[in-house]
Amino acid sequence: MNAHDIYLRLASVSKTFGRFMALENVSFQAQRGEFLCVLGPSGCGKTTLLRVVAGLEKQTRGDVFIEGRNVSSLPVSKRNVGIVFQSYALFPNLTARQNIAYGLKSQGQSRQAIQRRVGELLELVGLQGMGRKHPAKLSGGQQQRVALARAIAVSPDLLLLDEPLSALDAKVRVMLRGEIRQLQQRLGITTIMVTHDQEEALTMADRILVIDRGRLVQDGTPRQVYDKPATPFVAGFIGAMNFIADARKIENGVYDIGETRLRVSAENGTGRLPAGSRVTIAIRPEDVMLRHDPSAPNLLETRVAAMEYRGSLFRIDLKRRASMENEATITADVPSETVRRLGITLNSTLPVHLPVDRLRVYEMKIPATN
Ligand SMILES: Nc1ncnc2c1ncn2[C@@H]1O[C@H](COP(=O)(O)OP(=O)(O)O)[C@@H](O)[C@H]1O
Ligand SMILES: [Mg+2]
Repeated sequence: MNAHDIYLRLASVSKTFGRFMALENVSFQAQRGEFLCVLGPSGCGKTTLLRVVAGLEKQTRGDVFIEGRNVSSLPVSKRNVGIVFQSYALFPNLTARQNIAYGLKSQGQSRQAIQRRVGELLELVGLQGMGRKHPAKLSGGQQQRVALARAIAVSPDLLLLDEPLSALDAKVRVMLRGEIRQLQQRLGITTIMVTHDQEEALTMADRILVIDRGRLVQDGTPRQVYDKPATPFVAGFIGAMNFIADARKIENGVYDIGETRLRVSAENGTGRLPAGSRVTIAIRPEDVMLRHDPSAPNLLETRVAAMEYRGSLFRIDLKRRASMENEATITADVPSETVRRLGITLNSTLPVHLPVDRLRVYEMKIPATN
C-alpha cells in the first residue's frame, strides 16, 4: 500500500476510563476510499474507537493521523468527518430538509446554494419529495437516510457510522446495507462503520477489524476473517464453528482427537508447540463432509443425534466417540437435497470427513460463545 493512499492511521491507541481499559494498543490504517467495518460484541469498545477517530473522545495513549498529519489534539470540528449514530439523532422540530441543511448553514453558503445541495442530497438518499416531513412522520429507514444525507452534506473526507442499521427491521436493514455501500462507492468516501452484526460486516466491508475486549484481534478482508479466523474468539463470533477441545498434538500437522488421528495442512501459531500439547481444533459446520472416499484422511464414525431443518440445509448434530465413555458433538450443515438423497434420519450412522485444509488449530482454549 502506497503511504500516499493512506487516509487514516491509528498508532497504538489506548483509552482508559478510570481503571477500565476500553481500548488497548489499537493500530490500523484505512486507505482512501476504503470501507472498514469495526466488528465486535456489545461493550468491546467499538463506539469508543469511533469517537476517538472523530475527536469526540481523546485517547489516553497513542496517536491518530489523517493524511499523515497528527490530529490527536484537533477537535471534531477540525477533522472533516461526517457521523451517523445508532439512534437517529435528528432534530425532531426540524424538517428533513432543515436537518440536512443544518451543517451547511454554519459554512456560510448562500440560501440558494444550500437549497440546491439539499435537493441533491435528498435525491441521493432516495427521499425526493419527503423534504418537508418532520422526523416523526418518517419511518426508521427514512430517518437514517436523512441522518446519512446530513452527515455527507458538508462533503466530509471521512464518514463514521455507528451501528446505523441496528434499530431497523431486518428487511429495511438489508436494503439500506446495499444503498449505503453503493453511495459510499459512488462518493469514494473513506468510511468506518461500527457493527455487532457479522453478516453486515461480511457483506459490506472491504476490510473487517475484529475487536475483542478493547483489542484489535484481526484485521483482514471478509474472506480472510471468515476462512482464517485469527483466534477462537473470532472463529466463534463470525459464523458458526465447531471447537473440538480434546485434541492433542502428535507432531506438526498431526493431531489426535480421542482415538482418531487428524491431519491438518496449516499450523496456526501451533507449529512451535511441543508434542503432547493440548490444543483446540476448529471446523465450520459447512466444511464437515459426508460423502467420502474411504482412503481420505480424517474420517470419523458418527451418529445423527439431532437434525434441525433450515430450508436449504439441515443443521445436524453428530455424536462421535471421544473416549470409551464419552461422546462429543460435531455440527454439520448438510444441503437438504443431500439429506433427502442419502436418506439421513435421526440415529443414522454417518461417516464424515474433515478436509485437511479446512481445519484450524488453536493453542488457546475455546471462548465463551456470544
Ligand atoms: N464515558 C465512559 N465512561 C466510563 N466507561 C465507559 C465510557 N464509555 C464507554 N465506557 C465503557 O467502555 C466499554 C466499551 O464501550 P463502547 O465503546 O460503548 O462499546 P461498544 O460500542 O462496543 O458497545 C464499555 O464497558 C463501556 O461501559
Ligand atoms: Mg456502541
